[in-house]
Amino acid sequence: MFGASWPEYRPSSFVPVLAHSLTWVAARRGGRLVGCVNVAGDGGVHAFILDTTVHPDERRRGLGVRLVRAAAAEARAHGAEWLHVDHEPHLEDFYGRCGFRPTAARLMQL
Ligand SMILES: CC(C)(COP(=O)(O)OP(=O)(O)OC[C@H]1O[C@@H](n2cnc3c(N)ncnc32)[C@H](O)[C@@H]1OP(=O)(O)O)[C@@H](O)C(=O)NCCC(=O)NCCS
Repeated sequence: MFGASWPEYRPSSFVPVLAHSLTWVAARRGGRLVGCVNVAGDGGVHAFILDTTVHPDERRRGLGVRLVRAAAAEARAHGAEWLHVDHEPHLEDFYGRCGFRPTAARLMQL
């Protein structure tokens, strides 16, 4: 699924990434992973959506929005009060449908 969705993806272990997660949500069809989203937390009231991915065969059926909304509910249940995301401009509507409102943000490559 990641290989089909992210051109720069190279197979690697998710263990160190998920070890730092506040929560994560996955969707499977017939035992196959078809969608997932990871939520990192700061140990306080902030959480950050990362790596929202739906397999190309499963897109535009509402799965992405369902995953992010489920992740938001889980993050709230874990004590987060603010959920952040950054995304490419063409996903403005997608994250709007997930419940995010626009805000000013910046990103730095390290
Ligand atoms: C972004 C992504 C997760 C969306 O998953 P999805 O299951 O197709 O999303 P949904 O079906 O819930 O989409 C709901 C709405 O969001 C908008 N939307 C979804 N994908 C979009 C896209 N690629 N371009 C523009 N709008 C999009 C549409 O309004 C869509 O409603 P519609 O299908 O009735 O037009 C999926 O395209 C993906 O995995 N992309 C590659 C990885 C990626 O870039 N992830 C984002 C990281 S920030």
